[in-house]
Amino acid sequence: MGAHLTMGSIDYDSLIPNNVDLSTDRRLQRALEAWQPDFINWWREMGPEGFQQDDVYLRTATSVDKDGWATFGYVKMPDYRWGIFLTPGDEDRKIHFGDHMGEDAWQQVPGEHRTTLRRIIVTQGDTEPASVEQQRLLGQTCPSLYDLRNLFQVNVEEGRHLWAMVYLLHRYFGRDGREEAEGLLARRSGNPDSPRILGAFNEPCDNWLDFFCFTTFTDRDGKYQLRALAESGFDPLARTTAFMLTEEAHHMFVGQTGVGRIIEKTAQRMKEGDPRKFGAIPLDMIQRHINLWYSVSLDLFGGEDSSNAASFFGAGLKGRDRESFLTEHTALNDIYHLQKYRTDGTPETQEIPLRRAMNEVLRDAYVEDCEKVVKAWNRMLKKEGCDVELTLPSRRFHRQQGVYAGQHFSPAGDFISAAQFAAQQAEWLPSAADKIYLKSIMNRPHYKPGEFADWIAPPKTGINGQPVDFAYVKFMTEKA
Ligand SMILES: [Fe+2]
Ligand SMILES: [Fe+2]
Repeated sequence: MGAHLTMGSIDYDSLIPNNVDLSTDRRLQRALEAWQPDFINWWREMGPEGFQQDDVYLRTATSVDKDGWATFGYVKMPDYRWGIFLTPGDEDRKIHFGDHMGEDAWQQVPGEHRTTLRRIIVTQGDTEPASVEQQRLLGQTCPSLYDLRNLFQVNVEEGRHLWAMVYLLHRYFGRDGREEAEGLLARRSGNPDSPRILGAFNEPCDNWLDFFCFTTFTDRDGKYQLRALAESGFDPLARTTAFMLTEEAHHMFVGQTGVGRIIEKTAQRMKEGDPRKFGAIPLDMIQRHINLWYSVSLDLFGGEDSSNAASFFGAGLKGRDRESFLTEHTALNDIYHLQKYRTDGTPETQEIPLRRAMNEVLRDAYVEDCEKVVKAWNRMLKKEGCDVELTLPSRRFHRQQGVYAGQHFSPAGDFISAAQFAAQQAEWLPSAADKIYLKSIMNRPHYKPGEFADWIAPPKTGINGQPVDFAYVKFMTEKA
């Protein structure tokens, strides 16, 4: 890394851990210098509310070393060192799919794909601050210090992912990149006038069951989008997203084990009677939240038959999940068979040229991954002696995007009328009564080390080898 370079009162080399030679790029420094204070203002305004002064036991990305990329320690969140890391590249990396296959990967933005690439980066970047905004009040009802710390870890890393995308915009897109970077701090999740770009990121995430389902299903959409971008022929994008995936894994761990620990507690209580009697969460309520977050996350992949998806693939901008492990990389000679329904409910199979079906191909990989998660939850139920199983709803259920939008399907995937759907909606999706119940059991925070709310089992182990009852957050002022 180059010599330290100080601008104004900010030493960027120490403030922003990086492996992109930040200290040698003056133009980039100026851009970041203008953006960084706005980011901090955004964080203070829209980041976790009520905890900005507290010491949180967080990991910070400080290198790209596979075995030692993170450093753990107490940090006040506004002082978190949001760094910029690219997975080390292969100097003569080639584009390995689409129409440019075999050509050198792009180290600069190719003019013909500039607008498209910018849109891909902005769309990904927009999700990062959006989720922080959605989760900003959750700390006030945390089930434990362990979970509070995990929430904040996810939040600061989504902040770093925003930095990662803003780095690309500033470094490779000049003036309009800088404007887009400002826009990423200007939109607000759920705001009717300037909402976040994608639907799931405008949904309220107002209790911890929502949060754990969000990190299981919506962060997992992120994993697949990042995997597709990690194949990109635009090399800086590929290398940035490859590194983001190392952090993303923890977010999905938080989600899967969070829901898992709720299920564990529920199953234990079910042996004694109605879990509600003990302030635990009934399985049918958990199922409804799975149905909601899985379906809104499926929508994030976009239309099943998409000319955009075809051109992203053809241009070498966005590949398939683990493209390098596939054998055929043009996707020109294959057909995808899509199950559709006529307005009268008659099923029909549509043949889509594979390139146009790339969103659906990525969604398939996601669905398969989600199925494994639900299997793990069911093993937990079985272990606790519970016969009931949780399921993923059909991918047709409750869709707002794509060929199933505007039609109605049961969780089992049967075509039904709008009236039938409305009649059973409260069984299938979180209801007003669910929200009231969850609010009643998540009505106060649990700030004592080792203490857990009644609706969730403690984890088996702590973070970074620390005990479960470790003081993961140290409060600067006494909390009620
Ligand atoms: Fe992220
Ligand atoms: Fe994430």
